Formats: sequence, structure tokens, C-alpha cells
Amino acid sequence: MAGSRTLIGNKIESLFVSFLSEVGSDFKGIFISGGSTGPALFRSLASNNDFMHALSAVAIGQVDERVVPTDCTDSNTYWFYKDLLDQVDICLDFRPILTDEENQELHRCFSGYDVTEEPERTSMALWKEITSLADEAASRYSKFVEDTIENSIVHLGIGTDGHTASLFPRSKSLDSPKLVDVNFDPTGKNRHIRVTLTFEALRRAREVVVVAKGSEKKEVVQRVLTTKESLPASRLLDLKTTWILDREAAALIS
Ligand code: 6PG
Repeated sequence: MAGSRTLIGNKIESLFVSFLSEVGSDFKGIFISGGSTGPALFRSLASNNDFMHALSAVAIGQVDERVVPTDCTDSNTYWFYKDLLDQVDICLDFRPILTDEENQELHRCFSGYDVTEEPERTSMALWKEITSLADEAASRYSKFVEDTIENSIVHLGIGTDGHTASLFPRSKSLDSPKLVDVNFDPTGKNRHIRVTLTFEALRRAREVVVVAKGSEKKEVVQRVLTTKESLPASRLLDLKTTWILDREAAALIS
């Protein structure tokens, strides 16, 4: 696996901190994924002074975002604030994908709807309105990514379907030449229209770290790291990637 290496242990938090100490603290940015693993990992690290010192010196970007109001529980920004930014008493340079204005626009788009019902998949008018807003957000965010990515760490999760970031199997952005693109999961299993870093951006990152924990991830970890199935996350094997796995997620490869 060109450039890939695997760290396996009981606690992904300590593995992540030792990974960071190896990488060194002279990076400009860190891009953090959504999902359940990322925010919980960073919440647990909020009490680690060395980590927080390193984090306070860099720009904190998002790997991907669901295009929904940022104060609803389907939003990655919502959990960023709940699990990390609101947990610490230091000022962090968080760079969300969606601006306050876009959040207000999304509240207008979704007013009268239950966002968690994913109305954008049932209303073509809503789909078009949200996609156009997402295109503007992606275009703007790509300028921040272009300036930062080459000296940044990118934290990724991996979905049980083999997606990473919001780069889903058989989705339109897998081969996008853009750094940031609008995407969605054609199967509907992963909710909402997304704005996501692309593999073009991940290729440029200084370091990519994939964190997977729990037994539900053991099959997909094996499919990527051992049988090398052609899944989106398998493309990370060609990059300088560190895989941080707890023993349950690594059960079928170690
Ligand atoms: C998201 C991201 C995603 C996430 C994976 C894995 O959900 O916003 O699309 O890439 O990292 O779904 O999530 P977990 O590792 O937290 O299960």
C-alpha cells in the first residue's frame, strides 16, 4: 500500500495523539470529518492540553457537510459545536463550509419541512434550490482548501459502504477535478445533498488519517485494507495515509 500505514490499539484517542506528535505541529490546517467517530474523538481530546494547543494554532476546516440548517442534528457543524467548539474555553479558528447567510437561506428553504425527513429528495424545486446554494458554498470553500490543504492534516472516517468524506460508491464526485464538490449518495442511505472535499483535494493533503472504531467497521476495513475492493476509501491506499483502528475495527486484518 503506497504510503499507507496502520496503527491499531484499544484507544483511538491515544493513537491519534501519538500520530499528531509524529506529524509535528508545523501544519497550517486540519480538516475534520463528520459522522459519529470524528466529533466524539475530538470531544475526548478537548481535555488534552498538547492537542488543544496544536489545534488553537491552525485553521480547522470541514471535510464535508450536509446541506441543511447548521443548527439541526443532521448537520456536521451542529456536532462540531456540541462536541468540540463549545467544550473548550479557547478560541479556535473554525472554518465551516456553510456561512451564516447560507444557514439562514437554508432555514427559509426548509421552513415548514421536517429536515430529518430529507424533503429535498421529494421536492425537485427544493433540490434545485439547495443544489444551487451548495454549488456556491463549494466554489467559495475551494479557495480556502487550495490555500491550506498542502500543509494540512485531513481526518477521515469510513462508512460501512466504503465511502469516505461524502464520496459515496457510484456517486458523481468520485472523479471530480474540483477540490470541493457537491455530491449525494445515489442509494439514499447517506442523507442529504453534501458539500465535500474530493480525492483531488485529498491527494494534495500533507497527511491523511482515517479513523475507524467498533466492530461494525471490521468488514469494510478488511474489504479496503486486505481484499482491496474497489471502494471509494480504497483510493486512499495510493496516498500518504495513516489508518487508526481500534481492535474491534481491525479484528479481520490483524
Ligand atoms: C458524514 C461523513 C462521513 C463519515 C462516515 C463515517 O457522515 O458526514 O459523510 O464520511 O466520516 O460516515 O462516519 P463514522 O466513522 O463516524 O461512522
